[in-house]
Amino acid sequence: MKYLVTSALPYANGKLHIGHVAGAYLPADIFVRFLKLSHEDVIYICGTDEHGTPISIQADAEGVTPKVIVDRYHALIKEAFDGINIEFDNFSGTARQPHFQISQEFFTNLYNNKHIHPKDTLQFYCEYDKRFLADRYVEGTCPNCGAAGARGDQCDACGQIYDTTTLKEPKCKICGNQPVIKSTRHWFLHLDGFTQQMKVWLAEKDYWKENVRNFMLNLLEQGLVERSITRDINWGIPVPLDEAEGKVLYVWFDAPIGYISSTIEWAQKIGQPERWKDYWLDPKTQLIHFIGKDNIIFHALIWPAMLMGQDKTYVLPHDIPANEFMNLEGQKISTSRNWAIWVDEFVKEFDGDYLRYYLACNAPESKDSDFSWKDFQNKINNELNNTLGNLAHRVFAFSKKQFNGEVKPVELSENGRAVLSEAKELCKEMEKGYREYQVRRNTKISMDIARLGNKYFDESKPWQTIKENRLRAQETIYVCTCLLRMLSVALFPIIPKSMRNLRKMLGLGEISHWYECQEEYKDTLILDEVIQLFSKIDDEVIEAQLAKLNNAAKELKTSADNPNETIPFKPEITYDDFAKMDIRIAKVLEAETIKGADKLLKLKISLGSTERELVAGVALSYKPEELIGKNVLMLANLQPRKIRGIVSNGMILCAQDEGKLSIMLPDRDSKPGSPVS
Ligand code: 2FM
Ligand code: ZN
Repeated sequence: MKYLVTSALPYANGKLHIGHVAGAYLPADIFVRFLKLSHEDVIYICGTDEHGTPISIQADAEGVTPKVIVDRYHALIKEAFDGINIEFDNFSGTARQPHFQISQEFFTNLYNNKHIHPKDTLQFYCEYDKRFLADRYVEGTCPNCGAAGARGDQCDACGQIYDTTTLKEPKCKICGNQPVIKSTRHWFLHLDGFTQQMKVWLAEKDYWKENVRNFMLNLLEQGLVERSITRDINWGIPVPLDEAEGKVLYVWFDAPIGYISSTIEWAQKIGQPERWKDYWLDPKTQLIHFIGKDNIIFHALIWPAMLMGQDKTYVLPHDIPANEFMNLEGQKISTSRNWAIWVDEFVKEFDGDYLRYYLACNAPESKDSDFSWKDFQNKINNELNNTLGNLAHRVFAFSKKQFNGEVKPVELSENGRAVLSEAKELCKEMEKGYREYQVRRNTKISMDIARLGNKYFDESKPWQTIKENRLRAQETIYVCTCLLRMLSVALFPIIPKSMRNLRKMLGLGEISHWYECQEEYKDTLILDEVIQLFSKIDDEVIEAQLAKLNNAAKELKTSADNPNETIPFKPEITYDDFAKMDIRIAKVLEAETIKGADKLLKLKISLGSTERELVAGVALSYKPEELIGKNVLMLANLQPRKIRGIVSNGMILCAQDEGKLSIMLPDRDSKPGSPVS
């Protein structure tokens, strides 16, 4: 058996927070670490998801290219993963060239196999920006729940997906104008053509988690439909058809192909470029996708259909462990409200293993879970520190004092044997837990093993037996050391760094096999220097974290009260750039409304020597009569543009405060035509 394990590719336009880690990365990393300990053939593949409208919108807002954004976040995300020891075999990115080729090949195969067809669709089009407004480029009021700020195709408030053109009060995200509806051609993946194959494939997936299986059964019952897989934006992978000039593949079409291109990159890196085929094209491979529940439809329906429609026989997902969400202090994690714990900030203050342990204890496996700082403190202090750390500490202290740190195997008493066999049974349960992605349960079992050790130590009273029967005290230390060694294996997938330290203290090297936790060691161990495995977290530290969380959210709220503060500044220009603008004082001679354009006024202005006509988007802030006779500031050498059939010859300058416009007036009387600099 071979395993190809993936975690959802994180979008390269934001930092990593604990919710991401708890859902898609930590459970996969734990699973892979367990398989590697068991000497299974496994690779763990991931990378950043680098296309889509949020990335190009952010790039526009910062005045940089999308590549600058994705490179920045790719590095930040990778660093955060390193900080908590999430160890991929390869971490790629979907904006890399080899990914383009294979994504286009996927499209071409599906197209040639008649699974993709074009259709003319109605889309929002901004006449001002002269472009179609895909997905997040348009915002409005949700047609389902009435929430403001709903996106073009989906409302974040109610989750509803709808036909873009049903969005109410749509606004172009770039210029704020109301877009029109225009026809444009897109290409659709016809999922209905896969219905039969899907049913057969799904029939044997009775071991899937219920949330995933039920989701799919529901979809099949409703009937599979077509999904648009192309977009009108310029950041993405070009659709490989002559007649699709200027269109790119939808981000969700190319993203999962990133699992393959990242595997190809891995094979190249290890100098065996064909090795990726051993995983993707061999039916003996178990392909396992770890994801959050919001990604189910893409991994359990669209992606398998894309694979089924290829000429090559790719393996299909064997399992899709989709996790629920993790909340934070009882509220949904929200990056826009800054209600989140960012991994890069966490690891500056705490050991990465603390996060791994707590998220594993609290994994959102079957329902949403909650990160609470107080609970985090309790778990680290009571379990890692006072239970496991305490066992290690007392065994070490006693052994160093009484036996010079030498732990010799001894003939076991019945009690000693019973303790070890109970621990072995618990480790067996943990093995099952790891295979079934039950990390939450495994943290509990591991603490049961540590508690068993502490209880046995207490009851054996080695500090007393050492006085009359050294061998009994030696047995206590031997049994407890065996338990620590077992734990160093059994807990390694969850807290690898601490367990490596524990092994170093025990005088042991790297783990040779998972089965080390099923046996007692046979040689004398010479205990090494003590390393502080864990330390207690004080109340003040937790209070400071809670205050930081609340303050960050408050600060964001304050800046939301004045959103202008968060509008990024444009890149620097030279004086020559500035000097190209010919700004003048203009006197408004006439102003009138334009029929059918509620935001626009037609103005006639005087520049002293000449008069001009122009269209200004100020009708929502000014009545025509308020402007007549005023001297305003105007950009006089802007290329003329036709707006609503009128040639607009210049632009008057306004301050924009959340959509409210305020026309710029000279502070003193200045003659029309006076230059402004
Ligand atoms: O939801 C997300 O964060 C997506 N970027 C996941 C993509 S998974 C995949 F298919 F690549
Ligand atoms: Zn626009």
